[in-house]
Amino acid sequence: MSDGNRLPAFFRLERFEELDSTNEELKRRATRGVGEGTLVWAGAQTGGRGRRGRSFVSPPGNLYMSMLLRPERAPARAAQLGFAGALAVGEAALPLLPPAADLAYKWPNDVLIDGRKTSGILLESQATASGALDWLIVGIGVNLVSFPPGLETPATSLTASGAAPVAPETMLAKVAGRFLFWYERWLGEGFAPLRQAWLARAHGLGQPIRVRLGDGESEGRFAGLDEEGALLLESGPVRRRITAGDVFPAAR
Ligand code: BTN
Repeated sequence: MSDGNRLPAFFRLERFEELDSTNEELKRRATRGVGEGTLVWAGAQTGGRGRRGRSFVSPPGNLYMSMLLRPERAPARAAQLGFAGALAVGEAALPLLPPAADLAYKWPNDVLIDGRKTSGILLESQATASGALDWLIVGIGVNLVSFPPGLETPATSLTASGAAPVAPETMLAKVAGRFLFWYERWLGEGFAPLRQAWLARAHGLGQPIRVRLGDGESEGRFAGLDEEGALLLESGPVRRRITAGDVFPAAR
C-alpha cells in the first residue's frame, strides 16, 4: 500500500464513537476468533489502559487504535512488535512536525517530542495451551490535540509540539500503514532492522538512567538494546538485561 493516507487492505476496520478501551474490545473479539488485521478504532475511551496498570486518559480528538496479529512466532518474540508500533507513530508524526522538533523513542515503546510523551503503546497477548502465540494486540494511543497535565513523564500533543493539525482518521491510516511496513520486515528479517531504526532515535542512549522495576529501582548507563529488545543497563563492569520497567533520567 503506497498511499499513506489510506488504510492498507490488510486491515479490517471496526470503528466506534466511544469504547471502554480499544484493547478490551479487540480482546473480546480475539477470543471469539476474529482474524489477523482486525483494527479497532474509537473516537474516545472511557477506560483507556496504559502499561503497568495505569490508565490512559482518552478524550475525543486523539487517536486510540488496537490491531490484532497472529504471527507464528514465540510470544516473547512477538513483544518486539511494540517497537514496530513506536516506529510507526514516529514515522507518521515526523512529516507533520516542524524541522526543529526532536522526536525520540523512549524504551520500551513511548514516543517523545522534545522530551515529552505524545504516544504510548500497550501490548497484550494470549498463548495457546501448548505455549504458542494465539493472538497479540498492539494498542496505540497518540495525543493529537490534547494531553493530560501533571504526569510523572510530562506529556504533549502533536499540535502543542507545532505539528500541522491532523484528523484522527488520517493519522490512523498513516500509523497503520507504517506499522504494516515494519510488521512485514519483522516477519521476513527478524528484529534487527527494527532495532537499528529505533536506536537511531533512542532517547537517552549512553546517558545515566534510572529504571523502575517491579521490585525497586536500578541505576546505570543506557547502553543500548540487545538482539531481543531488552534494555541494556551498565553499571561499571556489570551489564544487566531489563525486559520490563519504566525509564527515568538518573537522580542527580
Ligand atoms: C502507556 O503509555 O502506558 C500505554 C498506553 C496505551 C494506550 C492505548 S490507547 C488504545 C489502546 N487501548 C487502550 O486501552 N490502551 C491502548
